[in-house]
Amino acid sequence: MIKITNLSYRYPDGTLALNSVNLDIKKGEFVVIAGKNGCGKSTLLRSINGLILPSEGSVAVNGMYTSDRSRVMDIRRMAGMIFQNPESQFIGMTVEEDVAFGPENLSLSTEEIHKLVEKSLRAVEMHEFRDHTPRILSGGQKQKIALASVLAMEPGIILLDEVTTMLDPDSRNEILSLVKRLHENGTTIVYVTHLLEELVHADRLVVMEEGRIMHDGDPRTILSQAKVTTFGFNLPPIIELSRKLRDSGIIDRTTFPLSKDELMEALCQLK
Ligand SMILES: Nc1ncnc2c1ncn2[C@@H]1O[C@H](COP(=O)(O)OP(=O)(O)O)[C@@H](O)[C@H]1O
Ligand SMILES: [Mg+2]
Repeated sequence: MIKITNLSYRYPDGTLALNSVNLDIKKGEFVVIAGKNGCGKSTLLRSINGLILPSEGSVAVNGMYTSDRSRVMDIRRMAGMIFQNPESQFIGMTVEEDVAFGPENLSLSTEEIHKLVEKSLRAVEMHEFRDHTPRILSGGQKQKIALASVLAMEPGIILLDEVTTMLDPDSRNEILSLVKRLHENGTTIVYVTHLLEELVHADRLVVMEEGRIMHDGDPRTILSQAKVTTFGFNLPPIIELSRKLRDSGIIDRTTFPLSKDELMEALCQLK
């Protein structure tokens, strides 16, 4: 569904943000991309979405190359993107106008647009806010509207760039469960985060460092085995604890716990 081949990207000032990245993402996968600030995560997402074009190599979404300018609107529709700061995405005076903005560019009837807007707002449980001004909503509500705007385009892929960073824990969990539900319904998810706690939902973890992919695989295997120094960031306390328990032979390496619940379960098994 997404095929990235030998992708390098250099910003106009000469910064090499991506260095020979190869990544194949299949339909229906939930891929978490992690790595410390500046490692190239946002640049990678922007490349997938066609916001920026490869300096070298190629990016194809559903067989459409981002370098083919005639397909750029199709690519953006197929791969919707949400950013850390939802403010930057609002265009409309009301929530409804905002969500309708994408479908309005698709030459659909007013009726069809209305249906899409309604369906998307319901999917994020924000239909009661359709007449509100997006600006005055809470951070979590804003992100839900940003998500609805993307859903209104009926994308096959959703790219999320640190969307929970500015949110309180409750809103963070709410957004995460919405994303999980979309994944369960078949949407391919590429989820950038520096909060490793969020990756327990992922099928696959990609860890980047200095524009390259350092690890790519099953999160449990990577978090239990990889050298911590290669991550370039701190592991969540639960995972540190799991590693210590595993190193002391207290828990089994095959059931390496990634979450509080899994750790509790592993400890209960010891009795
Ligand atoms: N517009 C830009 N111009 C020049 N360099 C940039 C620009 N945006 C990002 N960079 C640089 O590219 C590298 C990767 O950035 P980015 O993709 O934003 O990383 P991340 O999202 O992982 O924090 C960093 O060194 C960053 O400073
Ligand atoms: Mg970023």
